[in-house]
Amino acid sequence: MRVSWQSLTEEIRNCEKCDLCRGRTLPVPGEGNPRAELMFIGEGPGFEEDRQGRPFVGPSGQLLTKMIHAIGRERSDCYIANVVKCRPPGNRNPSDEEAAACLDYLRGQVLLVRPKVVVLLGRVACKYVLREEVYITRDHGTWYERKGIWFLPTFHPSALLRDPAKKREAWEDFKKVRDRLSALAGPAGEDG
Ligand code: URA
Ligand code: SF4
Repeated sequence: MRVSWQSLTEEIRNCEKCDLCRGRTLPVPGEGNPRAELMFIGEGPGFEEDRQGRPFVGPSGQLLTKMIHAIGRERSDCYIANVVKCRPPGNRNPSDEEAAACLDYLRGQVLLVRPKVVVLLGRVACKYVLREEVYITRDHGTWYERKGIWFLPTFHPSALLRDPAKKREAWEDFKKVRDRLSALAGPAGEDG
């Protein structure tokens, strides 16, 4: 399958491949630097995201933005996307069927961006991207390599808002991301 940003975005805007299309206000394709070395993947749009058509713009998005700044980057340097592009009613987890229907778009996005590092925000992102049951409390901060891309599970920002005591561990994960990106940039600081 040959994908382009234009065809992907267009398809998502008109997509009716699963029932989540019925409840959406706006689909949330994703946003950011199309050549980002760092990508974030969440679960699916929440209330604010659904209204604005943009990922991570509600309370958990504000926290994510702060954490990106804390490792010396801007949101616009990164690419930010979700497993499902339409809001599950009441913010429930997407079903296996909904995730399966939507995952081609995310695959296309990863192929187009070709990030060096992907941060998986929460268990749902890990489950569908790594195709493994990951327990965030146990497995956060453990690197997974897939086809030359490094994936790091960490807490979903909404989990950190519910339980701020987890923020210290999440910060350790973000430092791993920062350090891996500088290691991958090589001794001369060149962008590969
Ligand atoms: N939670 C997510 O998983 N994704 C968003 O875009 C916003 C909140
Ligand atoms: Fe299409 Fe994904 Fe929205 Fe389902 S969630 S309608 S597959 S874009």
